[in-house]
Amino acid sequence: MKNYFKPAVFLLCLWPIYIITFQIFYNKLGPEPVDRIINHFGEWTLIFILLTLAMTPLRKITKSLEWIKFRRMLGLFAFFYASIHMLSYVGLDYRFDFEPLIDDVLKKKFIFIGFSAWLLLIPLAITSSDKMVKILKKNWKKLHRLVYIISIFGVLHFIWLSKTIFFKPLVFLIILIILLLLRINFRKFNLS
Ligand code: HEM
Repeated sequence: MKNYFKPAVFLLCLWPIYIITFQIFYNKLGPEPVDRIINHFGEWTLIFILLTLAMTPLRKITKSLEWIKFRRMLGLFAFFYASIHMLSYVGLDYRFDFEPLIDDVLKKKFIFIGFSAWLLLIPLAITSSDKMVKILKKNWKKLHRLVYIISIFGVLHFIWLSKTIFFKPLVFLIILIILLLLRINFRKFNLS
């Protein structure tokens, strides 16, 4: 792989930051700027989770190992955007007032499942280094299978908060189903 490829992908992964910075700077966040910021990062979190999930099928389909080199970076970006998403909700929506916030997490099922997905991302981010792969050995793979649950929680979170599956949540759901089916098929035909 050309050595400028990884930094280029890194800069591309910052795209959501460029967009929001532009929108803040040019006052283009619309009538509900806080919601716009929360939703922007929520959507990008889901996109990065699905991109991370897509790397292994792409490796198998194209028979190229290059894709796997981006998997960790994409996964860490998913955690990064999930944290900004969560922090903008806690900070901008609730001004770090934790009492009503905890109430929201416990009472609204879409917040509860989103929060659970974020919590599950933490051990994956912590154990993403080469050193942790060596320390955890076989358990590393088992632990990182949590990404399947996280992706399902992420899509459910989107469906529940939208109160309808149409239209964007449905697109994410279909992509997720395809990615999960690809995994099952690779295992069934022993291609993994
Ligand atoms: C892996 C974790 C998460 C993913 C993938 C995710 C994804 C999303 C998506 C896709 C949206 C909707 C974007 C749109 O409408 O365009 C959203 C909205 C939202 N999320 Fe998350 N989210 C996650 C975690 C969280 C957490 C931890 C919280 C708070 C504790 C949270 C609270 C919210 C709220 C309040 C909204 C806006 C709801 C509204 O429009 O009223 N999410 N999220």
